[in-house]
Amino acid sequence: MSYITIKQLVKTFNGKEVLKMLDLEIEEGSLTTLLGPSGCGKSTLLRSIAGLHPIDSGEIMIDGKRVDHLSPNARNIGMVFQNYALFPNMTVSENIRFGLDMKKMNKTEAAAKVEKMIELVGLQGKENAYPRQLSGGQQQRVALARALVTEPKVLLLDEPLSALDAQIRKHLQLLLKKVQMELGITMILVTHDQEEAMALSDYVYILNDGYIAQSGVPNDIYKHPESEFIAKFIGNYNVLDERQYEHLFSRPLADARFVAIRPETISAIPETNALELVGDVVSTAMLGSIVRYNVKIGEQIIHVDRLNRSHKQLDTDHQLRLYIKEEDMIKIV
Ligand SMILES: Nc1ncnc2c1ncn2[C@@H]1O[C@H](COP(=O)(O)OP(=O)(O)OP(=O)(O)O)[C@@H](O)[C@H]1O
Ligand SMILES: [Mg+2]
Repeated sequence: MSYITIKQLVKTFNGKEVLKMLDLEIEEGSLTTLLGPSGCGKSTLLRSIAGLHPIDSGEIMIDGKRVDHLSPNARNIGMVFQNYALFPNMTVSENIRFGLDMKKMNKTEAAAKVEKMIELVGLQGKENAYPRQLSGGQQQRVALARALVTEPKVLLLDEPLSALDAQIRKHLQLLLKKVQMELGITMILVTHDQEEAMALSDYVYILNDGYIAQSGVPNDIYKHPESEFIAKFIGNYNVLDERQYEHLFSRPLADARFVAIRPETISAIPETNALELVGDVVSTAMLGSIVRYNVKIGEQIIHVDRLNRSHKQLDTDHQLRLYIKEEDMIKIV
């Protein structure tokens, strides 16, 4: 049975439906990611779960209990935002202890919990620093510790790492995962970073314009996009419509409206059962461990990814033969 169950959730702002009959199920102790374009309703969904604004209709259940009529405090949910929202006039320890003071916990017990949290997020030695004396990454660790210290059953994170640079972000991604595993807490994470979503999540919901476009485990979503929207949104697929397909392969596209082809499945080596295409490299992009070639075939640009090994990169204008296997063409109906 799922731990968080959302049924037919509708949320409007000024008469406009921002969440349209959403159904979600989230397992206990899992990390679930919400992905989707800007404005699709991710923050609104998190805020609805937290009780930060009223919903129009539907049900939100946590651990078998309806919570949608409860005040935010009564829901036992922690929250971390993109902008750290720390109290500037309080030290690290005081910021983390804030929620315990609100609960009027006795000082010794509170001090022990704060110390444990400081250790968990790796802020030893910074107990008496003020937020302005900390880096962005350190401030976000404080925000995380502050949200966790009251031992919520559910932690909601709204783009907590977006404002941080790539290296710190990677570090804190690992920290988030560690915390989630150690505490067994149920986390819902909103992110714009697909790699982050794929790497961290047990389950992913992709939202588009207030509805769920697709959900599943990361690998399934990546390998089996169910719509043109998902194929274009996830994983840099080459998406061809019927006309483009026919131009490229000189045969009609049967039983589908689109075909999606992952750039890394296109080979430069002849393979049995593969269709051959010939085109010219028009540009290349270095993406770290891979190089992306943009290859022009007729009027169509196809993206092809290669591992960035030491061998010489192809120049633009270089003619390239490409081989695409039937089984790597994902049909979208
Ligand atoms: N308080 C509000 N009053 C009116 N409209 C709102 C309010 N909050 C959000 N909206 C609208 O609801 C829609 C969804 O907004 P939301 O902030 O949930 O998107 P998001 O998916 O979190 O986007 P982003 O990725 O940019 O953070 C948007 O059209 C937004 O303008
Ligand atoms: Mg948002």
